[in-house]
Amino acid sequence: MKIAVVGAGLMGSGITQQCAQSGYPVVNIDTFAAAQEKSKTNLKLLFDKKIAKGKLTAEDAAEVLARISYSTDYAAAADADLVIEAVPEKIELKKEVFSKLDGVCKPDCLLLSNTSGLSISELAAATKRPQQVIGTHFFYPAPVMKLVELIRGLVTTDEVYLKAKSFIESLGKTTVDAPEYPGFIVNRILVPMQNEAAFMVMEGCSPEDVDNAMKLGTNMPMGPCELTDFVGIDVMLATMTGLYNGFHDSKYRPCPLLERMVKAGHLGRKSGQGFYKY
Ligand SMILES: NC(=O)c1ccc[n+]([C@@H]2O[C@H](COP(=O)([O-])OP(=O)(O)OC[C@H]3O[C@@H](n4cnc5c(N)ncnc54)[C@H](O)[C@@H]3O)[C@@H](O)[C@H]2O)c1
Repeated sequence: MKIAVVGAGLMGSGITQQCAQSGYPVVNIDTFAAAQEKSKTNLKLLFDKKIAKGKLTAEDAAEVLARISYSTDYAAAADADLVIEAVPEKIELKKEVFSKLDGVCKPDCLLLSNTSGLSISELAAATKRPQQVIGTHFFYPAPVMKLVELIRGLVTTDEVYLKAKSFIESLGKTTVDAPEYPGFIVNRILVPMQNEAAFMVMEGCSPEDVDNAMKLGTNMPMGPCELTDFVGIDVMLATMTGLYNGFHDSKYRPCPLLERMVKAGHLGRKSGQGFYKY
């Protein structure tokens, strides 16, 4: 079975690596060659570290790397049996990618999307094979995280669902069936919790107290404020806004403090300032 992964960013790189590690020949397609160069260099560095620590042999690393090829041309997906899309979370961009893939891929090729919350049915409708489109939501970093949420579109067939599930399981992942509603399962529960933590900080609680309460009282490895800083205040706010707009329900109202922080450029770890200073 031959795999194509579209996108060589954070997720596309990890998914490409995971497919190759699981024995599949995989072509990575990104329209920006520089993104692929970065992805290639990072993977080589990661493997070199593992080799130095004795966690991987040089032969095994070379075998995995040899299974990966790179292209900036969608035509490279022509002989793929399954394509996983991981381009930025913009509906118009993803629809364009799905339509292009539909044009070059074999008729029986499955089209999977790693979207964090966009409609699978809408992506599917951009193709002439909507029944062969399904959401497979990996978590970051893809080679480490065990979970993949499976999201069926309105017309995804049982056969396609079962094939996608068995492929994901062959990568050593566990799947859960998530509804085609914003946030799927994990983000629908996790992100409102982070949002609620931000409301508590806005009301005067310290981020340290909120985080300690959740770490020591519920055994979370990381407190919600720390976690929001880690993923990025802007990213978390965008997900919360997606829930609010998607459900048209005030229970998902994004915390105004998060909006102020983003406007001030306090984006969390990556900007040096979020709930905490870095
Ligand atoms: N970052 C995460 O933690 C995370 C977790 C789960 C799911 N996701 C989802 O995965 C998807 C990708 O996210 P990411 O964080 O890897 O993004 P990213 O910005 O790191 O990478 C996106 C890649 O897509 C490439 N690209 C842009 N336009 C393209 C096109 N037309 N054709 C081919 N390649 C193109 C870019 O060059 C870039 O390398 C998004 O839908 C996101 O919501 C992200």
